[in-house]
Amino acid sequence: MQNVREHNMSTPFSVNTPVFDVDAIRKDFPILHQEVRGKPLVYLDNAASSQRPVQVTGAIQHLYHHDYANIHRGVHTLSQRTTQAYEDARVKVQHFINASSEREIVFVRGTTEAINLVAQTFGRDRLQAGDEVLISHMEHHSNIVPWQILRDQLGIVLKVIPIREDGSFSLDNFKAQLTERTRLLSVMHVSNALGTVNPIKEMTAIAHERDIPVLVDGAQAVPHMPVDVRELDCDFYAFSAHKMSGPSGIGVLYGKLDLLKQMSPYQGGGDMIETVTFENTVYAEPPARFEAGTPNISGTIGLGAAIDYLQTIGMEKIAAYENELLTYGTEIVSKIPGLRIIGTAEKKASVLSFVVKDIHPHDLGTILDNEGVAIRTGHHCAQPVMDFFNIPATARASFAFYNTKEEIDQLAAAILKAIDIFKF
Ligand code: ALA
Repeated sequence: MQNVREHNMSTPFSVNTPVFDVDAIRKDFPILHQEVRGKPLVYLDNAASSQRPVQVTGAIQHLYHHDYANIHRGVHTLSQRTTQAYEDARVKVQHFINASSEREIVFVRGTTEAINLVAQTFGRDRLQAGDEVLISHMEHHSNIVPWQILRDQLGIVLKVIPIREDGSFSLDNFKAQLTERTRLLSVMHVSNALGTVNPIKEMTAIAHERDIPVLVDGAQAVPHMPVDVRELDCDFYAFSAHKMSGPSGIGVLYGKLDLLKQMSPYQGGGDMIETVTFENTVYAEPPARFEAGTPNISGTIGLGAAIDYLQTIGMEKIAAYENELLTYGTEIVSKIPGLRIIGTAEKKASVLSFVVKDIHPHDLGTILDNEGVAIRTGHHCAQPVMDFFNIPATARASFAFYNTKEEIDQLAAAILKAIDIFKF
């Protein structure tokens, strides 16, 4: 196999500035220590879903082995213990994103459900035919389709902010799309397909000058950088646990309390009411109003454990280390002949999307898998982004704080092997 270091590379590969002890961190992730197709696993599909440390799986196991019962419903000890752990997780989330109150934290299935919740409550309550919801061209389908559903229900208008050729966000393009009918801005913080980090604080300030509320899809931001919702001043912020070393099927909708209080319930059922008669129901205050039915108890407690874990390392350190990985990876793969990086904005996080001349991304992904390297290939649930770049798909390597530069070397070597196989 051709080694990437021998392949027309001029700059040194090792940037010896360890920010923290990645070897120690990796020991917490048993899944990373295995062979795939006879090669050491290199897991670079973290934007799709990250891996969990033993501290998270241990917290879930502890719950089921010692404390588990339904929450908010029992006077017995196990129910009280589990209720406490569940509500502790809410406070952990509050502090993690610097919300003003734990009542601003609504547990949902994930980012997708959070956006659907806002569309079907806040959106349905407030919007009328002809009102405009503004999104950007780089959005994930989860921040497009819920608004299209609302468009079909209410006759609202979905407007799209054009992006720049490098995949960056343009504040000028954004301002040009604002009209008297703009009622909501809904944008992603970090692009899952391109890695672009968007200027959320500036966008929010501009929107608020016109009293336009702002919803942020933070699925790809919260795992990779410190996020302070009060500093951003956004009205809603959504993210998923499974991308931040927590369980799948659990996520968060942050909403400013005064807005949540004005919103209708998303679903009806147990635990979201004050009183029920056949004639009338009085809804509970937020966040309970939006958490009908028995929730994902173990997932929520696992999310709390994931937050503890990330905070022990430190989000600033994680951001700095991953930035170093991204810089290193960008430098290496951009020297591979025939490879084009898709998404070259100045401010990026953790995502390296690319195409390699004459090799379909799915073929590339299969060859890389044979080398033990796991990446995602396809449209990344962002088909309009692929249309913008006039490509059907990309190959995407996405980094987490437990990845290493050696793994990036293995990625590059596997790409070169694919190029050798296709011989161009
Ligand atoms: N949204 C996830 C991704 O980007 C699934 O892969």
